[in-house]
Amino acid sequence: MILLSVESTCDETAVALVEDGRRVLSDQIFSQADLHAVYGGVVPEIASRSHVEVIYQLADRAIAEAGLRKRDIDAVAVSYAPGLIGAVLVGVSFAKSVASALGVPLVPVHHIRGHMAANYLAYPGLEPPYVCLAISGGNSLIVDVRDYTEMRVLGATRDDAAGECFDKVARVLGLGYPGGKPVDALARTGRDDAFTLPVAQVEGRPYDMSFSGLKTAVINLVHKAAQTGTELDRADLCASFEKAVSEALVPRAMAAVRELGYGKLVAAGGVAANTRVRADLEAAAAQAGVRLYVPPLRLCGDNAAMVGAQGYYELLAGHTANSDLNAYASRELDA
Ligand code: KG4
Repeated sequence: MILLSVESTCDETAVALVEDGRRVLSDQIFSQADLHAVYGGVVPEIASRSHVEVIYQLADRAIAEAGLRKRDIDAVAVSYAPGLIGAVLVGVSFAKSVASALGVPLVPVHHIRGHMAANYLAYPGLEPPYVCLAISGGNSLIVDVRDYTEMRVLGATRDDAAGECFDKVARVLGLGYPGGKPVDALARTGRDDAFTLPVAQVEGRPYDMSFSGLKTAVINLVHKAAQTGTELDRADLCASFEKAVSEALVPRAMAAVRELGYGKLVAAGGVAANTRVRADLEAAAAQAGVRLYVPPLRLCGDNAAMVGAQGYYELLAGHTANSDLNAYASRELDA
């Protein structure tokens, strides 16, 4: 079964063709990062306008690259939530018109479920149940994935997402947008014990996280250094910051795997590209005898292939939508 899949929740426009949820026939991505870099973050209206400009061309290119005809498409999947509402609306409207024109089912996919499904493309043998650590620009979640479309959120961030925190830290250190990559690169040359930074616990909710205190601690250090004219070692600060982020994520995810007894941990989302987080996950999983699945770097960030992977399983479960499908800025993963 071949799905045409669409992603436009933030600043990547993407269209892919995926066969049976596991094989990518084409994966077209247009990143708007350069358009937003000058503003230091994503400007929602610019994002929506850029999606409108490129989405049809990307679809044509995907179909041509896969060597298919439009009538070979069996269904259309689309990220319908969560995201920047104007941006998501572009993808949803496009997907609806394509599904209607081709007379095929329309499959709504939760964007974070898509991130998780990126692992089905990378690991043909991966099957639920497993625990997923989903860490992206807008979400940080620990999820009990019982089956392909049946999941329960065990814990979530109470405030900022991990990726958001990377972006804020990069901004205050003058490292540009998006911030994850430059912080990652700089941290590699720094000492992670140079600064002691807070790792928050949420009382009575062992799997919940909080990153706003960490973010504020880094911002305060930078401001204080500027006020006193002290030279701050940015590499040391990035390394210490990453250590704190990793300490907030990895032990919690491992505790969930232990509690549920699945023996499998899956990472997903943009922050899963982080060198420190990947290394700490690998070490913790090896020590505990847990099988770890981390997407290759190209599948960590937003893409449409992951939407096609999850869309296949949503379609098999009968989760299709009608022409009144709407876009949502926020939506529970396990609703
Ligand atoms: O999953 P994603 O591409 O978009 C969302 O669905 O949100 O995640 C984007 C986030 C950004 O905050 C970006 O700074 C972060 O992932 N990111 C990283 C790295 N690469 C991207 N964070 C830490 N280390 C990285 N290497």
